[in-house]
Amino acid sequence: MAVHNVGIIMNGVTGRMGTNQHLIRSILAIRKQGGVALANGDVIMPDPILVGRQEHKLKALAEAHGLTRWSTDLEACLADSNNTIYFDSQTTVHRAESIRKAIAAGKHIYCEKPTATNLEESLELAALVRQAGLKNGVVQDKLFLPGLLKLKRLVDSGFFGQILSVRMEFGYWVFEGDWQQAQRPSWNYRKEDGGGIIVDMFAHWRYVLDNLFGEVRSVSCLGVTHIPERVDEQGNAYECTADDAAYATFELEGGIIVQANSSWAVRVNRDDLLTIQVDGTEGSAVAGLRDCKAQHRINTPKPVWNPDIPNPFRFMEQWQEVPDNQLFDNGFKIQWELFLKHIVTDSPFPWDLLEGAKGTQLAELGLRSWDERRWLDVPELKLPEVSGQPIASAKG
Ligand SMILES: NC(=O)c1ccc[n+]([C@@H]2O[C@H](COP(=O)([O-])OP(=O)(O)OC[C@H]3O[C@@H](n4cnc5c(N)ncnc54)[C@H](O)[C@@H]3O)[C@@H](O)[C@H]2O)c1
Repeated sequence: MAVHNVGIIMNGVTGRMGTNQHLIRSILAIRKQGGVALANGDVIMPDPILVGRQEHKLKALAEAHGLTRWSTDLEACLADSNNTIYFDSQTTVHRAESIRKAIAAGKHIYCEKPTATNLEESLELAALVRQAGLKNGVVQDKLFLPGLLKLKRLVDSGFFGQILSVRMEFGYWVFEGDWQQAQRPSWNYRKEDGGGIIVDMFAHWRYVLDNLFGEVRSVSCLGVTHIPERVDEQGNAYECTADDAAYATFELEGGIIVQANSSWAVRVNRDDLLTIQVDGTEGSAVAGLRDCKAQHRINTPKPVWNPDIPNPFRFMEQWQEVPDNQLFDNGFKIQWELFLKHIVTDSPFPWDLLEGAKGTQLAELGLRSWDERRWLDVPELKLPEVSGQPIASAKG
């Protein structure tokens, strides 16, 4: 049995996602379980180096988890040939510059979504990494949520018949930061810092819809900044320059209609922070993050509109739970394991930077649709030429 040590530069690891999902629940959890086991008995052992701007934070984080490798010098980490992967979970506006450096240093790339705040930059990164012949991937964690895996199971089984429509409700109340601290970083509400719910969430909606139901063909979106002023981490009031809610409709291949409400200014009166209802000719289902309930055609009640009598139906009780039937691991960890296998064994990993660019494309079209107050089609993405060399075009 051989152990494949893989050095990973983790930049932005002191942030919310970097610390909780990527370091603790993924990389450290993989180390704790003894690495990623391969079919031939070998093991992949991730060896992270924590990278950021503030020494005291990195040192404290490393010490808290028994790690010795941390640095504020990205260039030195990139120059170290023991580090073969560059991972980035910095705030979105800082991602592209660091990824360009990592590509130039010949590192494989894995990063948070969105890969950039605009399509041009997302495509440039996808083209650069492909031209350099480096492996690459983008976090698409929602695909691995138990609720969505159950939904996928229903789709694959043909349960829905013809899928007609999808209703997505995402959101919760994010406190303004005055009398109660906000539960999201303040840059999320400043456009100039890469904020905005459209840039953030449409990157998710693109891969969720493309992978579960069919490719997104067109978009109509109305964005809004419901809360005009918030209070930041230092207690200072600031103007919210980015959208905090988006009311969108998408058309998918095959004519499926999707309505997607995304909001940080909504109070939750549903089973979960994200619910996805799918209605088909043979049955319907509603998925949350972990659970999924279904109602088949033969179990469908027959309500008749009559406000003159008390409602005789208990609608919520007329659905059946889709069972787990398997163990569900953390979605970020599953994707890390797949990426590490991709690096060491060349196994397939479909969620590359070009797939990530599709998320940025949908966000950009959503913002334009809002601005121009009209429907927009989603064109096939083509990789641009970088450094004068033509790069292959990819399927849209
Ligand atoms: N996959 C998901 O579900 C998901 C969820 C939330 C956020 N994200 C993405 O992850 C990334 C990080 O989000 P987060 O919520 O962890 O943010 P955060 O503010 O908690 O962390 C940001 C990290 O970037 C670092 N950083 C580097 N340069 C910076 C600068 N000049 N200003 C501010 N921070 C700087 C910070 O030190 C910190 O480590 C974003 O791109 C975001 O879109 C993904």
